[in-house]
Amino acid sequence: MPASKKIADEVARLREQLNHHNYLYHTLDQPEISDVEFDRLFHALKALESEYPELVTDDSPTQRVGSAPLESFSQVEHEMPMLSLDNAFGDEDMRDFDRRVRTRLARSEHEGIRYTCEPKIDGVAVSLMYDDGKLVRGATRGDGTTGEDITQNVRTIEAIPLKLKGEGYPARLEIRGEVYFSLSGFEKMNADAQKSGQKVFANPRNAAAGTLRQLDSRLTAQRPLTMFAYSVGVVEGGELPTAHSDILRKLKTWGIRINPLAEAVDGVEACLKYYDRMLEQRPSLDYEIDGVVFKVDSIEEQGTLGMLTRTPRWAIAHKFPAEEGVTVLEDVEFQVGRTGAITPVARLKPVPVGGVTISNATLHNMDEVDRLGLMIGDTVVIQRAGDVIPKVVSVVQDRRPKKTRAIELPDACPACGSEVLKPEGEVIARCTGGLQCSAQRKESIRHFASRLALDIEGLGDKLVNQLVDEALIESPADLFELTEWQLVQLERMAPKSANNLLEALKKSKTTTLPRFIYSLGIQEVGESTARNLAQFFKGLEPLRVADEESLQEVPDIGPIVAKKIAHFFQQDVNNQVIDQLLANGVGWEEEAEAGNPEALVGETYVLTGTLTSLTRNEAKARLQSLGAKVSGSVSAKTSYVVAGDAAGSKLTKAQSLGVPVLDEQQLIELLEQHGA
Ligand code: IVH
Repeated sequence: MPASKKIADEVARLREQLNHHNYLYHTLDQPEISDVEFDRLFHALKALESEYPELVTDDSPTQRVGSAPLESFSQVEHEMPMLSLDNAFGDEDMRDFDRRVRTRLARSEHEGIRYTCEPKIDGVAVSLMYDDGKLVRGATRGDGTTGEDITQNVRTIEAIPLKLKGEGYPARLEIRGEVYFSLSGFEKMNADAQKSGQKVFANPRNAAAGTLRQLDSRLTAQRPLTMFAYSVGVVEGGELPTAHSDILRKLKTWGIRINPLAEAVDGVEACLKYYDRMLEQRPSLDYEIDGVVFKVDSIEEQGTLGMLTRTPRWAIAHKFPAEEGVTVLEDVEFQVGRTGAITPVARLKPVPVGGVTISNATLHNMDEVDRLGLMIGDTVVIQRAGDVIPKVVSVVQDRRPKKTRAIELPDACPACGSEVLKPEGEVIARCTGGLQCSAQRKESIRHFASRLALDIEGLGDKLVNQLVDEALIESPADLFELTEWQLVQLERMAPKSANNLLEALKKSKTTTLPRFIYSLGIQEVGESTARNLAQFFKGLEPLRVADEESLQEVPDIGPIVAKKIAHFFQQDVNNQVIDQLLANGVGWEEEAEAGNPEALVGETYVLTGTLTSLTRNEAKARLQSLGAKVSGSVSAKTSYVVAGDAAGSKLTKAQSLGVPVLDEQQLIELLEQHGA
């Protein structure tokens, strides 16, 4: 029997009540009813919905239980890049930051800048897209440009509204924030996991990252994740307040959870006081923070300050000092890295530091070992900061035992036996075995497959070891010649896993030029340098033949890095691997290569009306790739309004404010002129 109006009304009423109590509980932290009462309402709604399935809606509070597992996550291109933050490690760094801000805003010594201060949550960044107030997509940050679609998982998080409360929100609104586990929730979850023999997580941050990347969202639904929002991304079809602190307040009225410790202050000295207060409060908080974030409060001033490649000039993270512990150095082993670098690694008597058990620490290189005056058997002080590998910071001299053992660099590589050399004037000792060294081969293949490189799902450390040890592959290029038959011969490799790996390999072949360059594992070429190289040379071939001089033209590349890159492309072995990769079908779309990323830094564009030869999103992405900001509303600070067909009120506003207007053709010329 179809639901009567009375039933439909009752369902609507229950939903409204549940949403309201959810808001009181999660967003305001002021529950008015007991958990039992909440459960009663929830089950009443659930019962009606199962009797009248036609009344179930996507944003009903009952729809948070997760759904059928996914095969894999699809990719999400962020319409506006998700930036990271520059770090300050002390008061002086903070004062320098404030000076830079004041200089750029042409403020005098005495005019304090208004900053919003917020705890820096040690969790995982996510983007939530709301269309007409409905949560339509959740995504991870990924590399800042492309993330993964984790909609199914974020829908299970009770602190994230499936529908915004109230009214007045923009038609499209992207909320950004940090998803995390409360410490109490984390501990309980780990205790339960231990009892039932499941995997225990090392720390709340890893647990949050792992839980958000769970393909089976029904599992995510069982874990107590929560979120604090800290900014917005895309804003279209509506306006937000003009100060960051007011935006946060506004978000709260729409049901978004905001950190109650966020506050706006005037001047850098007040920021430093806030930092001290948070450092003091830190042990009593029910979540991990690794510092505080300061943001210039005025959105207009943020626009004037603009951004560098990956970080805004208007915000900074003031990090807390690392946490320390004391333990005994039991042994030192030498690991061989991707480029042959031999790194001494401390094996320690396990010790808890900041809630994590530490049993290994990096010693960086032999100079560091000498500097510390370290001997095996010593008692040492170790530090860990957030997710960084712990390090040994000093030796407790008066606890040195009678019997100690010196730490010596081996003459021969522990993996392949080749000679180990430490060139004069350099601190790093290297195995000279090159790709003959199985350790270097394994590391370079691991790097090639890693998430920010070709992102080959399912190719884990153990499998790489097996493949190299069984001599099935020697280089990354050989991966694409593996057959199902070869794979199933491997121990513990079922036909299904073999097929999954082959599928993942096939998928990874379509990549981007920056990822490809990064995946090659050239010394000193990290992800951001790879991106700069791709943007500068616009293709692999020009990069392969570039000399040191032209390499130095690339932003952020100096003589040393230029030399390493040129040297890499002069080696026959490297060229053979690259040619084999290309022959095996690894490739990218040419359009992935952008123009000068700083060409339009500091300029703000507003797009309005219908564009004919490119979509609005494409125009936006291309402008952003040149460093421009694209905003949804026109103000006196707007640099240009791009008016397509049937442009309306924004065009009128631009004209009245005297903001210059471009037509579509002029926009295209501008983009092409800068290579976007
Ligand atoms: S603002 C452009 N605010 O820290 C501003 N980030 O190192 C982008 N984070 O990726 C971030 N708490 O995951 C901001 N209150 C906060 C934060 C915060 C934690 C994380 C975030 C970001 C990373 C930057």
